[in-house]
Amino acid sequence: MDISIRRGRPDDLHEIARVDGASFGVTYTEQDLADALLVVDLDRFWLAIDDGRIVGVTGDYPLTMTTPGGGSIDVPGVTWVSVSPTHRRRGILRQLMDHQLNDYAERGEAMAILTASEGGIYRRFGYGAATQVRRTVLDRRPARLVAPASGGSVELLTAEQARARLPEIHRRWRQLVPGAINRTEGRWDYHFVDRESVRDGMSAKFYLVHPDGYVVYRLKEHWADGHPAHTCWITDYAAATPEAHTALWQVLLAMDLVGTIESHQIPIDDPLPHLLDNGRLLRTTALNDGVWVRPLDLPASLTARRYGVEVDVVLRVMDPLRGDTTYRLRGGPDGAECTPTTTSADLSLTVDALGSAYLGGQRLGALAAAGRVESTDSAALRRLDLAFQAERAPFHGTAF
Ligand SMILES: CC(C)(COP(=O)(O)OP(=O)(O)OC[C@H]1O[C@@H](n2cnc3c(N)ncnc32)[C@H](O)[C@@H]1OP(=O)(O)O)[C@@H](O)C(=O)NCCC(=O)NCCS
Repeated sequence: MDISIRRGRPDDLHEIARVDGASFGVTYTEQDLADALLVVDLDRFWLAIDDGRIVGVTGDYPLTMTTPGGGSIDVPGVTWVSVSPTHRRRGILRQLMDHQLNDYAERGEAMAILTASEGGIYRRFGYGAATQVRRTVLDRRPARLVAPASGGSVELLTAEQARARLPEIHRRWRQLVPGAINRTEGRWDYHFVDRESVRDGMSAKFYLVHPDGYVVYRLKEHWADGHPAHTCWITDYAAATPEAHTALWQVLLAMDLVGTIESHQIPIDDPLPHLLDNGRLLRTTALNDGVWVRPLDLPASLTARRYGVEVDVVLRVMDPLRGDTTYRLRGGPDGAECTPTTTSADLSLTVDALGSAYLGGQRLGALAAAGRVESTDSAALRRLDLAFQAERAPFHGTAF
């Protein structure tokens, strides 16, 4: 088997969809592919070719991600990764990842991010699980807000009205949340594509909009022999102020006929349990890794965020693909600098451990307990652990 790697071209889309569909169990229609082109740029893809046929794919979207402290960083968001079932476990993904990461390094990308279909794939390529996504189910009928919302009305808008309002609210929300990802106009158009084929038996989307927040949801009817128990499925959710958050939940809790409100869009530190007089009614049904971060240019990555407390530390970062490097990091709430040094390190860590800690979603102390961070100076470790904490739990908010 002689596999070559080349860049994607506009006429590759159908073949890419064939490999991707066979991997994920999707049958793409012409309409699905036209919709995908709202966000897909095939120049940003790498393809593995066997005897003229595409057998492996990886691509990315150019994204901007909020960093702890309110800054942001441009990152490729790796996507559409698959290898044909006929060609698995022969090193094709590894070849694709090598090409892609080398290309990023040559282009000067600070880091790359992705979301993973399975948890065991990407650590070997230097990606660390950095955020968590939480699925929840709320038993609506007994749920009561401790204090009702004051001020700011919530409107039920049409898709067309919401398309005009949501981007600005989302932009304000994402500046507050480390790990949050921007949405281009194409991405917003893609979000508003609401084909029946993707509704899974549920309604079209409904849009609840407050001046500072919104909830997008679908309803699934379930009359249960006269004991209505509809499901409200939240597909998108952003509140830029506590008032908007409370006001939106007040409306959601008033949805008669609905038994449960379900979501995979609730950040792990969402204040909802504290708003309820019985917080246990919000059950977490799954807690999985969200965004994985792969640092490439360490000074560019480490200076793109702020630090909770002043820190001055020498870090040795062990990278199986790009070699080991040592940097002095001086940072605090107002900014950071990071320079190469030959001084001996206070801490050594793997590049994926650095990726896991970068957004403040995983604690360096826990990574050290797992042997992925080593330090002979426990005070330096504690201080860096504190410094890496973010103001909020990181959350990406947009599937890619
Ligand atoms: C995941 C996938 C892309 C791997 O492709 P592949 O060409 O078989 O992978 P490779 O042969 O290059 O494997 C590279 C390494 O990853 C490991 N690996 C590959 N797939 C893995 C998986 N699903 N879980 C754990 N390890 C995996 C291999 O064992 C190998 O390890 P090693 O080199 O350290 O010994 C392929 O199985 C696939 O298309 N899966 C279905 C779609 C999917 O989940 N895509 C990922 C979307 S995020």
